[in-house]
Amino acid sequence: MHRVGIGHDTHRLEAGTALVLGGITIPHDKSAIGHSDADVLLHAITDALLGAAALGDIGELFPDTDPANRGRDSAEMLRAAADRLAAAGWQVANLDCVIFAQRPKILPHRPAIRRRIAEILGLDEQAVWLKAKTGEGVGPIGEERAIAAECVALVERRA
Ligand code: CDP
Ligand code: ZN
Repeated sequence: MHRVGIGHDTHRLEAGTALVLGGITIPHDKSAIGHSDADVLLHAITDALLGAAALGDIGELFPDTDPANRGRDSAEMLRAAADRLAAAGWQVANLDCVIFAQRPKILPHRPAIRRRIAEILGLDEQAVWLKAKTGEGVGPIGEERAIAAECVALVERRA
């Protein structure tokens, strides 16, 4: 038995020195702002997994009103969601993700991001794909005021 889930996330960008994205740190002149480490891709993946298994969403598991979640490592949140899925009898079949960012170029970082996500979830790298789109210079993405990500996840019953 299979189920599909979708996740979407957006974070504001401000002047900074690095972006935390897909579990890696990319040197950049802007940083994403958020209560946790603001890793927009891991947040979208977390929501896609929780949605596939009908187990809640990232804001329910890790409320931004809880001081314990301030600066939290998003890999920890993703792993907690994956643990919930496993406990409910689900395993991840594959993930397909899109990052919406005018800059920086994401493709050079794709291998490292795929490796890191696969490592966090205990998956084969082939089960994780990633694409990127600019905002064509318009709107909050194109004007580099925001970064967003989407993920579709397929989960299957564990054998
Ligand atoms: O050409 P098209 O309008 O479909 O896409 P684009 O948003 O202009 O992106 C062109 C290429 O740059 C694509 O192959 C993306 O994968 C890549 N890209 C990237 O590496 N990093 C980004 N932040 C945005 C796009
Ligand atoms: Zn987020």
